Amino acid sequence: MTYNDVYAAWQADPEAFWMEAARAIDWDVAPTKALTDKGGDLYEWFADGMVNTCWNAVDRHVEAGHGQRIAIIHDSPITETVHKITYAELQTRVARLAGALRAKGIEQGDRVIIYMPMVPEALEAMLACARIGAIHSVVFGGFAANELAVRIDDCQPKAIIAASCGLEPGRVVHYKPLVDGAIGIAKHKPEFCVILQREQEVAHLEPGRDVDWHEFQSGVEPADCVPVPGNHPSYILYTSGTTGAPKGVVRHTGGHLVALNWSMKNIYGVNPGEVFWAASDVGWVVGHSYICYGPLIHGNTTIVFEGKPVGTPDAGTFWRVIADHKVASFFTAPTAIRAVKREDPKGEMIADYDLSSLRALYLAGERADPDTIEWAQRALKVPVIDHWWQTETGWSIAANPMGIEALPVKIGSPSVAMPGYDVQILDEGGRPMAPGELGAIAVKLPLPPGTLPTLWNAEDRFRKSYLTTFPGYYETGDAGMIDADGYLYIMARTDDVINVAGHRLSTGAMEEVLASHTDVAECAVIGVSDDLKGQMPLGFLCLNKGCNRPHGEIVAEVVKLVRDRIGPVAAFKLAVVVDRLPKTRSGKILRATMVKIADGQDFKLPATIDDPAILDEIRAALRTIGYAKA
Ligand code: COA
Ligand code: AMP
Repeated sequence: MTYNDVYAAWQADPEAFWMEAARAIDWDVAPTKALTDKGGDLYEWFADGMVNTCWNAVDRHVEAGHGQRIAIIHDSPITETVHKITYAELQTRVARLAGALRAKGIEQGDRVIIYMPMVPEALEAMLACARIGAIHSVVFGGFAANELAVRIDDCQPKAIIAASCGLEPGRVVHYKPLVDGAIGIAKHKPEFCVILQREQEVAHLEPGRDVDWHEFQSGVEPADCVPVPGNHPSYILYTSGTTGAPKGVVRHTGGHLVALNWSMKNIYGVNPGEVFWAASDVGWVVGHSYICYGPLIHGNTTIVFEGKPVGTPDAGTFWRVIADHKVASFFTAPTAIRAVKREDPKGEMIADYDLSSLRALYLAGERADPDTIEWAQRALKVPVIDHWWQTETGWSIAANPMGIEALPVKIGSPSVAMPGYDVQILDEGGRPMAPGELGAIAVKLPLPPGTLPTLWNAEDRFRKSYLTTFPGYYETGDAGMIDADGYLYIMARTDDVINVAGHRLSTGAMEEVLASHTDVAECAVIGVSDDLKGQMPLGFLCLNKGCNRPHGEIVAEVVKLVRDRIGPVAAFKLAVVVDRLPKTRSGKILRATMVKIADGQDFKLPATIDDPAILDEIRAALRTIGYAKA
């Protein structure tokens, strides 16, 4: 079957297509239908089936006789250790942890926040929740206590599972004090915290609230898998929106299982038993879908990598891991390849390793620039596949489906729409545009299985964020075009989300933090181009009248404020004081024009600009801080 055949089969009968894909999942009660139209543009998948995610990701492989197959390889160049866990061991560990959670009162539907570094216990915690129908929400370790507190208040967890620390090159990240700080700030208080004490740092446990990971599990009755309805939320994952309040993307159980399982073979081209590696973090959607769930549901071996592309110990780390563990399919963000390329421009370190197991490199999370793709193609001599997706969708909207057919690669395009996605380019009035024309990228409803059915406790926000601009469509927030061959091109975000080192961040959230500084009257944050990270945030500050403190001091304070409130992941290091911000006559800040000035690009003077002279002031201010592109 070709890609066109598969896509046409889905178009002809989506219900039959997804019911067929659902047969690859073990159901306790098989669904009688795939799609439920709930009315008002809300949809659910496999709602009347009964199923358990952990059973499908772990137990069924043991039952099928694959208990000795490696499920997880923890490769940690930071601690210089490698551990392997078989599916049988994983089953024992997860059943025990699930039993301990249940013994402490965690029941189906309860929320559990997981705040952990890249250790296998993070996956075990996710799977243990899934085993008993608890809803997990994993929070990325690079977020500060305040961000964790916001998530605690939004999803109201009964428990938090955390590690004592994370390990960044040259720095121990003190997770436990961050957890304590977050609980202190949050209005909602979890009943208990389970703390994995790592040998690099033993954290203080709060008597009566905190329990040690091992002690908590000793002597408990292991828990069996609890079947849940197909529309039971398996997890909530918060992602950046336009304001400081993150959006709680909900993932339903049935569609998640079906879509991820389908994607492993059809998109990533791997067979059960092969090694699949996504070098990301469990705190991001890539980590949920392709470090934890996808590979395990499909019976692959997954790698939990605790390291960086460079510096742990060198730019050959990726190639060492691929060679050591015979990785068949490798997935990372373009920024990681750019980091390697910068250290080893000729890719000379690749020659030290046997990469014969590798069949393809997949890139996502940000725009893959042609230089990076071409470098990787030359260096690795395997197809380099750009694919496009979002936290909201949980799996690719557009990709080159290597397991169906390797389509010709067009550099600069993440290839074509996957079955389930009717992708269209719309103009401002919501009318479809011709091939080659730039517009908003939207997906005709319903979205396929595995995508978000709503936002946690925020249906109105879900509608406003995604369903209102183009009735009948999901608004992706990306702009781009489709060429005459159906290849998509993703050009820019239509909102104020920026992408820093493959991490999705909200400039609006950073502006809220800057505005809270006592000397700041007004501010703007934009995303400027960065050779390594793709984009970097840059802040503009207008100070209160009469404030004559040194600008450098105020800039240092706001940089610290963003790090303390949002976290190091925001990578907010650049800010400049200006007298005024360029605005339209109606008072809208001209952020896009500021980006062009900062990036040193030509631009058309906006017709609605209030006072063009401000643009020269912006340029001059950027030069005073040595921002060379301005
Ligand atoms: N816990 C705590 N802190 C973290 C963290 C974590 N899990 N991950 C990153 N941070 C910190 C970093 O230590 C850094 O802190 P610093 O300001 O003290 O140096 C800060 O957050 C910014 O991190 P990052 O933007 O990742 O920059 P970096 O210089 O550490 O690394 C790359 C740059 C390109 C090597 C790195 O971003 C990378 O490997 N990216 C891959 C992208 C990826 O995994 N994307 C996920 C989607 S596929
Ligand atoms: P996240 O939700 O963190 O996965 O970020 C999703 C956003 O990252 C998308 O809306 C895009 O703006 C961007 N993105 C992800 N993958 C790609 C890609 N392959 N090409 C261009 N942009 C991408």
